[in-house]
Amino acid sequence: MKKILVTGGCGYIGSHTIADLIENGYDVICADNNSRSKSSVLDGIEKITGKKIKNYHVDLCIADDTHAIFQENPDIAGVIHFAAYKSVEESVGDPLLYFENNINSLINILRCCIEFDVPNFVFSSSCTVYGNPDTSPVTESSPIKKPASPYGSTKQMGEAIVQQTVDSAQIQSILLRYFNPVGAHPSNEIGELPIGKPANLAPAITQTAIGKLSQMQVFGEDYDTRDGSCIRDFIHVCDIAHAHTLALHYLIDKKNQTNCEIFNLGTGNGITVLEMIRCFEAISGTSLNYRIADRRPGDIPAIYANNEKARQTLGWQPKYSLEDMMRTAWAWEQKISSRS
Ligand code: WQD
Repeated sequence: MKKILVTGGCGYIGSHTIADLIENGYDVICADNNSRSKSSVLDGIEKITGKKIKNYHVDLCIADDTHAIFQENPDIAGVIHFAAYKSVEESVGDPLLYFENNINSLINILRCCIEFDVPNFVFSSSCTVYGNPDTSPVTESSPIKKPASPYGSTKQMGEAIVQQTVDSAQIQSILLRYFNPVGAHPSNEIGELPIGKPANLAPAITQTAIGKLSQMQVFGEDYDTRDGSCIRDFIHVCDIAHAHTLALHYLIDKKNQTNCEIFNLGTGNGITVLEMIRCFEAISGTSLNYRIADRRPGDIPAIYANNEKARQTLGWQPKYSLEDMMRTAWAWEQKISSRS
């Protein structure tokens, strides 16, 4: 079995990706210092896959500690690099924390990939690199615009660092631009574990419904959209996870045309915030307590993906519906709330 290093593997998308990789025949190791995640997530992965995942509890900003992972595992066939801070709001408050963490960790990982001849590299990028697009759906060739936050800057910079590093190295790479990940694994053993008050829409909805939050705010109903609320491309986290497995297959099978290819990971459907709330109310049979508040600084009115390239090139077929996203998110919220 080919060994894959997943950095940030205790995180939301990382954990779901490890489960998918194992189910598709890969041997996986993890590197996560749990600064923004819980190591107990690996127990959930073990319940799903029957495999105990070795985690290197390492700060990837420390070059020697990162190097030691590769020294112990000279047979790594590919790296999927998730490890990064990802809060837009936090990055606005402390830009240098984000540049230091997200860029230094990427540089250390890439240096090791070069030194240890790791042939394949998949980078966790984001639709935030498009900034506020003139139109949607956006394709991978849509203009890259000024990012709305330092977090978005680290993703734009990260893409440039990968693109310009692989040119001089024997590394084949893929950049995956996620739209809005939502939901939890159907087994209900892993899901999203927001730290503190959730910034993202889906956990804000489920935490309000379960009573952790007294009331949810809809940030703006005066946008130029069909119902005045923002439009996003919500996609199930398991669909995003499986795209990583397909990306690795694609690189390992040497089907790639260039040494750095880019793919949008969205459903291609633009859904409004209010439509997401209606969908949740329908699947949960509850009425959500929310109020219309002012717009949130940095929000863009609308963005959703053209995902044809991933469909045609990677053979990727998103299979979870909006109802599946909300149903699994709600089941997960009910489970973790019953624990606390
Ligand atoms: C979605 C919509 C809010 C919470 C984020 C990351 C981005 C990428 C995708 C990783 C917006 C509205 C939200 C709430 C609300 N992730 N909202 N009330 O900002 O589109 O993008 O996920 O790469 O990097 O920033 O996601 O879920 O925060 O917001 O009305 O309590 O929901 O205004 O219109 P966003 P989000």
